[in-house]
Amino acid sequence: MKVTVNRKAHFNAAHRLFRPEWSDEKNLEVFGKCSNPHYHGHNYDVTVSVTGQVDQKTGFVMDMKELKDIIKTEIEDVFDHKNLNEEVPEFNSSASGLNPTSENIVVVIWKKLRPHINKSHDLAVTLYETPRNFVSFNGG
Ligand code: NI
Repeated sequence: MKVTVNRKAHFNAAHRLFRPEWSDEKNLEVFGKCSNPHYHGHNYDVTVSVTGQVDQKTGFVMDMKELKDIIKTEIEDVFDHKNLNEEVPEFNSSASGLNPTSENIVVVIWKKLRPHINKSHDLAVTLYETPRNFVSFNGG
């Protein structure tokens, strides 16, 4: 019997979407307001979903306290109140890092969490950049 447990988390972060080799006009055309050279912030919401067998003895798929602590250490402490382009190595603009789009952020989050989740469990992450714009990744 497989059940999915979900934990919500939140972080505020600044970013800028741009290609350094493109002009400001081209960046504005492709990335819109998210290309602002002076950065801007988003209130990101995250849902982490872990699917697996319910343990016969505990009745848990996984201990939610443990999941909470993993999310705090791996995601909130790393992303909250940070400038993603400047302070998170995966997105480091000066080292040709990834553009911090929702798509790239959700994959980075998934990769940071995966090693800490039981191998027999499935992991999916949903990231909300705004209440209406959200992306999800399950490793596929
Ligand atoms: Ni943005």
